[in-house]
Amino acid sequence: MQFQWYPGHMTKAKRQMQEDIKLVDLVIELVDARIPMSSRNPDIDELGKNKARLILLNKADLADKQANQAWTEYFEKKGYTVVRMDARSKAQIKPVNHAILEACKEKIERDRRRGIKNRPVRAMVVGIPNVGKSTFINSFAGKACAKTGNKPGVTKGKQWIRLNKSVELLDTPGILWPKFEDQSVGLKLALIGSIKDEILNIDEMSLELIKLLQHHPADAQALQARYELTETEDTVRMLGQIATNRSCIKKGGELDYSKAAALLLDEFRSGTIGHITLERPEEYAS
Ligand code: G4P
Repeated sequence: MQFQWYPGHMTKAKRQMQEDIKLVDLVIELVDARIPMSSRNPDIDELGKNKARLILLNKADLADKQANQAWTEYFEKKGYTVVRMDARSKAQIKPVNHAILEACKEKIERDRRRGIKNRPVRAMVVGIPNVGKSTFINSFAGKACAKTGNKPGVTKGKQWIRLNKSVELLDTPGILWPKFEDQSVGLKLALIGSIKDEILNIDEMSLELIKLLQHHPADAQALQARYELTETEDTVRMLGQIATNRSCIKKGGELDYSKAAALLLDEFRSGTIGHITLERPEEYAS
């Protein structure tokens, strides 16, 4: 699903989120492991204050392993519980269940002291479009979990999915809006495929991608190896070499830069160039 955000959308999404968050103990925030900062909206920290917090570094299968580890430590230091994820895989259900209880242990302990037993933790999933919220809910909730239906005091129409005896999940995710004001954020979101390509300049984006990959020797090497590049400085020439080596040629024999750009973006997004993370914790002040 693609979104075009206008101030009206954001106000509506924010109001909805404020209402939903009141109903839960835990906020499960999905971010894209390839751009964990650019794919989150810090407004959630204000909206979710006083709630237990779990960050899922989703699409970790497409990101760099060491960077996944570094981001896990970065967020853990800030007090979040963190799990690296491939939301398409059911194998991750166990660690997520474990992390939910870990993130909510204070609440569970508080309940226990008050003599409240077996009250399930209530959670909701939030994140910007395309981070994998629906995929996660589908994998995690699956078919086995019966919906519990409306409950007194709960906004009409809200459905809770009973995951197990300790956890209930709101069936609709909260949609956060990306931080479009920051150009580099917009670029990275476009590179991972979160913004419709039709409204973007593919040629420019591919040059920016090449530039970003040059920041990390391992990524630069992966690019060079994949497209057999001998040029390693000039990004336009590098794109030209990709066009040549992949036979992106126009009818008249001219290089087809746009075709090469589309190919490069496609192969980056599918992880074919390698496991690549476009931003690292050390680039952000702690
Ligand atoms: P949203 O609800 O947050 O908007 O995201 P959604 O679940 O629709 O997921 C967006 C795309 O990301 C989907 O691909 C989905 O399959 C993919 N995806 C979700 N989680 C992961 C993950 O952990 N790893 C990888 N590699 N991909 C993930 P799509 O192209 O829209 O659909 P499809 O081609 O998978 O059918």
